[in-house]
Amino acid sequence: LSPGLVDPFGRRITYVRLSITDRCDLRCVYCMSEQMTFSPRSQLLTLEEMARLARCFSDLGVTKLRVTGGEPLVRPNVVWLFERLGELPGVRDLTLTTNATQLGRYAQSLKDAGLTRINISLDTLKPERFRSITRVGHIERTLAGLDAALRVGFGRIKLNAVVLKHRNHDEVVDLVRFAIARGVDISFIEEMPLGVIGDHDRAEAYYSSDAIRRDLAEHFELLPSIHGTGGPSQYFNIAGEETRVGFISPHSHNFCGDCNRVRVTAQGRLLLCLGQEHSADLRRVLRGHPTDDERVRRALLSAMDLKPQGHEFDLTAQPVIFRHMNSTGG
Ligand code: GTP
Ligand code: 5AD
Ligand code: SF4
Repeated sequence: LSPGLVDPFGRRITYVRLSITDRCDLRCVYCMSEQMTFSPRSQLLTLEEMARLARCFSDLGVTKLRVTGGEPLVRPNVVWLFERLGELPGVRDLTLTTNATQLGRYAQSLKDAGLTRINISLDTLKPERFRSITRVGHIERTLAGLDAALRVGFGRIKLNAVVLKHRNHDEVVDLVRFAIARGVDISFIEEMPLGVIGDHDRAEAYYSSDAIRRDLAEHFELLPSIHGTGGPSQYFNIAGEETRVGFISPHSHNFCGDCNRVRVTAQGRLLLCLGQEHSADLRRVLRGHPTDDERVRRALLSAMDLKPQGHEFDLTAQPVIFRHMNSTGG
């Protein structure tokens, strides 16, 4: 019996984040440059290759899959992929991170395919700010996507807000009130330095999770929650409410010690850590051995030796990771 995926630090890898496209219909300032070049289609894994890879991961004990992008729902035939992922017997948690712009049309078919949870990026409730943070988006579309997801009955939807000083830090209380009103959870995220973005100074925009907690404590009683989602968020319950508030704090509260995850980029590169470059070329293995899943599983097992202890993000230095967040899916 295979011991499954275990890294050199004894951490078991049971969670895989699959980025299925680096394209996106938005251009969030913390994620991308305004002018981005995306991967040519010929370099992307096909959806069949992704489904095969996911099956190999599930054979090795992976129980949680999260589909990410770019914006995953801009990839054609995405529902077909969810149907395949939904059939994997070992996968108990099939999740999606999305900007919600396409959820109006996809929410029901994704639910039917077996999607269990959705995280929706929403940094502000103000239309003009939404426009300025996403550079091109319309908040109405994202809110309509959230409503569609609520309507088809997804439980425990989570909002993600990247908090930036002077852009949206003054909205954290309003965002929590909004989450309570909609019956959803919310996580606040400290921005991570991936890729150089010309018109955005990350050190200047840093707003810590502790500062957010202080702001929230003036309005809500936050009680530490013992229930997690297997992700990096540290959760709190709000006294008297269903809504949980999470904090993803790569800078102020490092969570690498509990890391249980790896990522696959849309080009089929296995990334062992979001904040490091250690990787393995899975596309080459998949294409070199089109029918030999055992060979793929062996490649995954041996790639675990490459997993580093953690990220070394430093907001005061130039980014050392040149890929932007959209190629990794966060
Ligand atoms: P659940 O806990 O399953 O709800 O998801 P999540 O919060 O882990 O995933 P999501 O895709 O919503 O990501 C939220 C934020 O967490 C993004 O900014 C991710 O980049 C960040 N994140 C997720 N996993 C890691 C990680 O391993 N390392 C770092 N540094 N950030 C991560
Ligand atoms: N730092 C932190 N979070 C980011 N996201 C995108 N870019 C960054 C960044 N540089 C968030 C998105 C989405 C999640 C997958 O990652 O807002 O919610
Ligand atoms: Fe698109 Fe998400 Fe990046 Fe925004 S953060 S540009 S929604 S991939």
